[in-house]
Amino acid sequence: MDLIGRGTELEAVERLLAEARAGQSGALAIRGEAGAGKTALLEHARSVAVRSGFRVETSVGLVAEMQFAFGAVHQLIKPLLGRLDALPDPQQSALQVAFGQRAGAAPDRFLVGLAALTLLAEAAEERPLLCIVDDAQWLDEASAQVLAFVARRVSAEEVALVLSVRDPTDDGDLSRGHRRGGGR
Ligand SMILES: Nc1ncnc2c1ncn2[C@@H]1O[C@H](COP(=O)(O)OP(=O)(O)OP(=O)(O)O)[C@@H](O)[C@H]1O
Ligand SMILES: [Mg+2]
Repeated sequence: MDLIGRGTELEAVERLLAEARAGQSGALAIRGEAGAGKTALLEHARSVAVRSGFRVETSVGLVAEMQFAFGAVHQLIKPLLGRLDALPDPQQSALQVAFGQRAGAAPDRFLVGLAALTLLAEAAEERPLLCIVDDAQWLDEASAQVLAFVARRVSAEEVALVLSVRDPTDDGDLSRGHRRGGGR
């Protein structure tokens, strides 16, 4: 789909991808009201990335899953769990406990963040990686913390993160559900 009037945003996305390909990781947040075109921009980022050889992993914040700790991180890195062996033991077990693959007390979020970062960096050694997080306003709290940590810490890997956040409406209520269509 051709996006109308989004030259600046498209440039920012393309710059982020070019920098990631050159080994300079970065993150970009797209903010806007319902229907402003955030998901459309993310989909554009996905196709540009795929065309230029990126692997793309995705996570979407869901109102129905806001209570499930680490649910959104699980969505994002589940396809990378085959590389779990590459992680130091404490990170491995933190992630396994977080994802219910191993019994244990609620894991240290710092360790889960490090584990996610390590897995993403490992994957990006093969080919550049784009992480897409749509509707970040609905991330479960644990995932929001972990993904914010990852976004701050990615540096010299070929990793790009793009996330969208819906601006609150005037009544401040973000939980009424996903409105579709509408103006731009
Ligand atoms: N720049 C654009 N040019 C043409 N059509 C667009 C553009 N941006 C968005 N659209 C269209 O507008 C509609 C709403 O866009 P989109 O779903 O991306 O909004 P959103 O910001 O993700 O909304 P929400 O907060 O509800 O998730 C879609 O049908 C999309 O294809
Ligand atoms: Mg959307």
